[in-house]
Order: sequence, then C-alpha cells, then structure tokens
Amino acid sequence: MKAVRVHKLKAEEVRRFAERIGAKDKERLVVCRGDYVEIPILDGFERYFEGYEIVEQNNPVFARKADLFEALKDKIPKDLWEYIPRRYKIIGDVILVKIPNELEKYKCLIGETLLKIHKRCKSVWRDLGREGMLRKPKVELIAGKGSETVHKENGCLFKLDVTKVMFSVGNQGERMRIVKLVQDDEIVVDMFAGIGYFTIPIAVHTNAKKIYAIEINPDSYFYLLENIKLNRISNVLPILGDSMYVTPERIADRVVMGHIFCQDFLPVAIRALKSDGYIHYHESVPEVIIQRPIERIKRACELLGKDVRIENFRKVKNYSPGVLHVVVDAYIY
Ligand SMILES: C[S@@+](CC[C@H](N)C(=O)[O-])C[C@H]1O[C@@H](n2cnc3c(N)ncnc32)[C@H](O)[C@@H]1O
Repeated sequence: MKAVRVHKLKAEEVRRFAERIGAKDKERLVVCRGDYVEIPILDGFERYFEGYEIVEQNNPVFARKADLFEALKDKIPKDLWEYIPRRYKIIGDVILVKIPNELEKYKCLIGETLLKIHKRCKSVWRDLGREGMLRKPKVELIAGKGSETVHKENGCLFKLDVTKVMFSVGNQGERMRIVKLVQDDEIVVDMFAGIGYFTIPIAVHTNAKKIYAIEINPDSYFYLLENIKLNRISNVLPILGDSMYVTPERIADRVVMGHIFCQDFLPVAIRALKSDGYIHYHESVPEVIIQRPIERIKRACELLGKDVRIENFRKVKNYSPGVLHVVVDAYIY
C-alpha cells in the first residue's frame, strides 16, 4: 500500500492534486508522522508524483475501520473483535462486506450498523466470493434492499447489479493506468469487457478510434450497453459472445485481457493485433512461480512466430495468501 511522503507544508497541495486525478486511496487516512505527512495513493499512480518520495505504508490507518469497530464493539463479545471487518466496499449506494463465519450470527447487526454509518447507502450485501470463468458474484443480503446501483469512478459511470456482476474496486488504479497508455486513433480490443471496466474509461478519457468490447455473460453485456448510453459514448462496438471465437483478427493496436484466468486466450489476443501492438495480460499467479505469466506470453508468441518485448510487469493486487493478481504489458511484433 503506497503513499506519497511530503513535508507538512506541501501536504495540502499534494492531497488536493491526488484527489483531483483520482489517485487518493479513500480507504486510508492521511497520516502525520512528525514534520511529514503520508498521503495514501492507489497502485499505478506513483508516476504522477515524480520528485516526491513514495513509501510503502507499514501501518496504514483505514478510514472506516474505527467507525464500524467502535459502533460494534459493545455488541459483539471481545473474543470476536478480531473478526470485525476492517474494510468493505461501497459501490454506488450499495455496500459489500466480507464477514468471517465466526461472525455469522452477527451478520445482520453488521449490515444494519453499516447502513447507520453510511446513511446514503440503501443496502448491505455479504460478499461470499466469485464463481467460475464468468466471475459471477456470490452475495447475500444482510440489510436494507436493492442491488442495482450506479458507481462513479474516475469520471465514469458504471451501472450494475451487485447480485449479477462483479465490480473490483481494487482494479481502479489499473484501469486508469491503461487509459494513460492509449494513444490517439488506436483500435483497442477488450476481450473480457464485463460491464465496461476498461472499455468505458478508455472511451471517456482517450481519443481511441474504436473499442471492440467482447462479453460472454448476457447480464454483464446488458450493463455494458447501459453504460455506453450512460456515458454518452459512440466509439464502442459491443459484441455478445465468447472471445475465443468472436475476437476480430489483425485489427488492434492494443488488446486488453482483463481476466485472471485467460492464458488459453493468448493466441487469440496475438492474432487480434495488427502486425504489431500491445497486449495487457492479467493472471493470478502464486508468488513462488511469479515468472509464469511472462513465460506463457513468450511461449504463445513463439508458437505463432512472433517476437515479444516485455515492457512492464506489475502487481494489481493481492488475490489470496501467496497469490498475486498481476498484469504484463507485452509489445508483440
Ligand atoms: C469480471 S471481468 C474481470 C474484472 C475486470 N478486469 C476489472 O477491471 O474489474 C471478466 C469478464 O470476462 C467475462 N468473460 C469470461 N469468459 C469470457 C469469454 N470467453 N469471452 C468473453 N467474455 C468472457 C466474464 O463474464 C466477466 O464479465
């Protein structure tokens, strides 16, 4: 978890800048350490703070932990305090929270308490993970009602139903990082478009010529169409289908492979590129075999007689203990 460390005299200016460009991590508080201040930022935004010191926060202070903990501690036995969730996600006006089994019988209390803390929110859902290739959410209503919402992020609107499609708040930095890479007039293929996680910010913030947005799940596709309308976008071509079979060939300057289990799709992505271009390949990989995504890209290129230059390899977020969600930027020619 990164933060920009600045002298307190500069802190307000840098905090405002971080907020303006959407870099500030709202889940953590600004922390004062002596004459210096740590301003928490999202992964992927480090390069906007050139000339400043970027530090890894060992003791981050979370924005909402105290509220929830304080509100619950008199109602939950002390030996269970350690299980009280320290973080949760707010998507539009819906809250998603992971609750360990130890707190099963307190889940509705936790939901009601969150609704009291966040008065503008209408419902709280217990987050039980995601299933299969479609990454369908498993959720359970624990307070309030309503599952459809509109989430605002980096100047884009994302309409979705939290019971039908996922929204990964932790990928926000990665979405904006990709936006900064897209050049004017590029043709982009988004092979796992979902509700437009990458497609919408690219369309809103860049001058890409065209974005092919492929999605297999009709629920996600429905919201992709909604989000194209909501953000008044005209350069997206949405395609409902399996990207293994419907991805266009020799057309793209850039291919986004925003699915953590998409290694089998690498040959299709490479064929989607013009004679050369970029692939942004995501994978969830155990830290002990951290080179695997790069090896997979190299092997796929070799089999298709292409050369590759690995331009960037970075962590998007932690996936599970010992396993990272990473992304590789590969230039293929
Ligand atoms: C949920 S997204 C990944 C999250 C996203 N990268 C982000 O930034 O939050 C993955 C999407 O790929 C879709 N998908 C899975 N297999 C597919 C396939 N073969 N063709 C097209 N879309 C597919 C899923 O339905 C899902 O909407």
